[in-house]
Parts: sequence; structure tokens; C-alpha cells
Amino acid sequence: MECYEQSRQRAAFVVLLFIVMLGSQAQAQLRTDFYSDSCPSLLPTVRRVVQREVAKERRIAASLLRLFFHDCFVNGCDASILLDDTRSFLGEKTAGPNNNSVRGYEVIDAIKSRVERLCPGVVSCADILAITARDSVLLMGGRGWSVKLGRRDSITASFSTANSGVLPPPTSTLDNLINLFRANGLSPRDMVALSGAHTIGQARCVTFRSRIYNSTNIDLSFALSRRRSCPAATGSGDNNAAILDLRTPEKFDGSYFMQLVNHRGLLTSDQVLFNGGSTDSIVVSYSRSVQAFYRDFVAAMIKMGDISPLTGSNGQIRRSCRRPN
Ligand code: HEM
Ligand SMILES: *[C@@H]1O[C@H](CO)[C@@H](O)[C@H](O)[C@H]1NC(C)=O
Ligand SMILES: *[C@@H]1O[C@H](CO)[C@@H](O)[C@H](O)[C@H]1NC(C)=O
Repeated sequence: MECYEQSRQRAAFVVLLFIVMLGSQAQAQLRTDFYSDSCPSLLPTVRRVVQREVAKERRIAASLLRLFFHDCFVNGCDASILLDDTRSFLGEKTAGPNNNSVRGYEVIDAIKSRVERLCPGVVSCADILAITARDSVLLMGGRGWSVKLGRRDSITASFSTANSGVLPPPTSTLDNLINLFRANGLSPRDMVALSGAHTIGQARCVTFRSRIYNSTNIDLSFALSRRRSCPAATGSGDNNAAILDLRTPEKFDGSYFMQLVNHRGLLTSDQVLFNGGSTDSIVVSYSRSVQAFYRDFVAAMIKMGDISPLTGSNGQIRRSCRRPN
């Protein structure tokens, strides 16, 4: 009887061990060589398409970088942002922070269809977003990094989560920003470095109107020049775009931080990083050393890419980035 009990316990232990091992398999780490056997020419293939698109329109690099951020901050880096609405769910594309704002979906489609021809059913849309973000930074003159891979794609997306405040609004206070990034395992230093992405790309008048008309910590000549293409009246010129980094808008450099030090941040959420608060010293250090910015930006991008990936047998490898299989 005792002997039976012991072997039962042993069997239970073995089963438990097996479950634990399965579990850790499901949380397998992302790794840089994930596709080195299954799709060896993935990276040059993605690079070629990004290069071609950036040659057509330099701004697309900024848009692709932002796409990855807006994916990762809503339920993790799972390509949920790429899903079109279906009968069973409303996707993230029309949520407030994305509607008429996020762009680059067609570029991801073009990359995905090339990659599907090359290695059918192997490479996730989530990983394509991660590689594309890195290539965009590199092609705009920033420093690259080895992208960790092995993410899988979600089968659903959430309009309500994308609208729930997990994506920071341009009116954010410093505390808001610190808390939102901390909720994703990112430190204040990571947050400041990642905000340096605003060294490229554009923002619409509606996102910075209150800043250029009502802010006190703004360089006056900067505010006046921005007002010329962004009328004060709500609804007029809302979609007029302005460059985020006045000095070198098409170069991934440290100039964004010099602008902040000169009170020329375009968004309220930019200038709060240098407004007498706890992150001032980080901004100053990046404004003095682009190498310090590059180092921290790369580290923070890798951390951002680690936000709740689907791995193992979770999720799927979508055939089209726009819909679940
Ligand atoms: C810190 C909090 C952040 C806030 C409040 C914020 C807000 C914004 C806003 C309002 C715009 C303009 C959108 C529009 O005109 O519709 C924008 C553009 C942009 N954001 Fe951010 N952002 C933040 C962080 C980031 C991060 C972490 C990245 C990437 C690592 C990023 C990359 C970009 C890029 C590249 C653009 C220009 C996009 C283009 O030209 O298409 N932002 N951001
Ligand atoms: C998204 O933008 C379009 C065009 O401006 C607008 O008609 C639509 O109502 C917006 N969608 C949501 C959910 O706000
Ligand atoms: C600036 O602030 C005033 C007073 O609060 C407000 O009436 C006005 O609408 C604001 N203007 C803009 C462009 O935000």
C-alpha cells in the first residue's frame, strides 16, 4: 500500500515536472538567430524593402518605428496593431492614438508578402515589425542592433485596450510618462531614450496646438513659427503636419535633445522631459553625447521588444498580417 502511494507520488512528480518544462518552453526566450535555419535570407530581404520605401519617402522610416512602439504598448509585441476589424472584434487601427495617425501598414504588407514567398508560414508579423523598426533607425543614420526574434502573432486585437490610456497622449505629464513606461518594465531612462525617436518624423497640429499657444516653457520664436501652420481654432488645420525635430528632421541623431534644452520640444510630452524635473539630467547628457543616446536607445528598444511576446505554441504565424489565419 505504502509502496503504491510512493510510486503514485513519483508519477505525480514526473507529470508536474513535465508541465513545468512545457510551461518554460512556452516562455522560450527570444533570440537573434531564431530564423537562421528556417529563413536564412530574412534580414537582407526586409532591409531591401525598407531601403526601397525610405528612398521613395524618408518619413516612412519614422512611421515604421512608431508602428512598433504602438504595437508593443498594447498587449505586447504581437502585431495586434496590424489586424483589420472583423465581425468578432474591433481592431486597434481606429483607436484614438492610431486613427489618421499611424501609417506604414502597406509597407509591412509588402515585406510580409516577400517573406511569405521566401519562407512560407515561418516568419511572424510581430518579428517583421521589430526588424523594420531597427532598419528604419539604421537607414536614417542611427545605430543598429541585433534584433531578438521568435515572437508569434496574436489572433485578436483590442480597440478598447488601445484606447484605454496605455498609449501616452501628447499632453502627458512627466509622471504619466514614467508610470506608463514603468508598467511595461521600462525605466525613466529608457523612456527618455525612447522619446528620442522624435528626432525623426512629424506630428499633426491637433497634437501640439495647446503647447504652441498656451505653454509657458516654450521658446517664443519657435512657438510663433509653428503657429503659422497650425491655427489656434479647434478644427482648422488639425491635420497640418510639422516636423518633430526642427534642426535635422530626417536624421536619427541627438538633435531632439538639444531642441528640448532650448525649449523647442514640439509636444507637451517632449518638453516635460526637460522642465525642471527628475529627467533633466538625462536630457542634458544626451544633448551632449549622441553616443550616450545611441547606447541607451538601443538597450531600451531591445527591452521594448521584449514586452509580453507570444512564443512557443501561443498565437500563430499569420499568413497575412491583416487577419488571423
Ligand atoms: C513618450 C511618450 C510618447 C508620446 C506622448 C508620443 C506621442 C506622439 C505623437 C502625438 C506623435 C504625432 C502623431 C500624429 O501626428 O498623429 C508622435 C509621432 C512619432 N512618434 Fe511618438 N510618442 C511617444 C513615444 C514614442 C516612442 C517610444 C517612439 C518609438 C520608439 C515614438 C516614435 C514616434 C515617431 C517616429 C513619430 C513620427 C511618426 C511619423 O512621422 O509618421 N514615439 N508621437
Ligand atoms: C477615425 O477617423 C475617421 C476619419 O477621420 C472618422 O470618420 C472615424 O470616425 C474615426 N474613427 C473613430 C473610431 O474615431
Ligand atoms: C489656451 O488657454 C485658454 C485659457 O485656458 C483657452 O481658452 C484656449 O482655448 C487655449 N488655446 C488653445 C489653442 O489651446
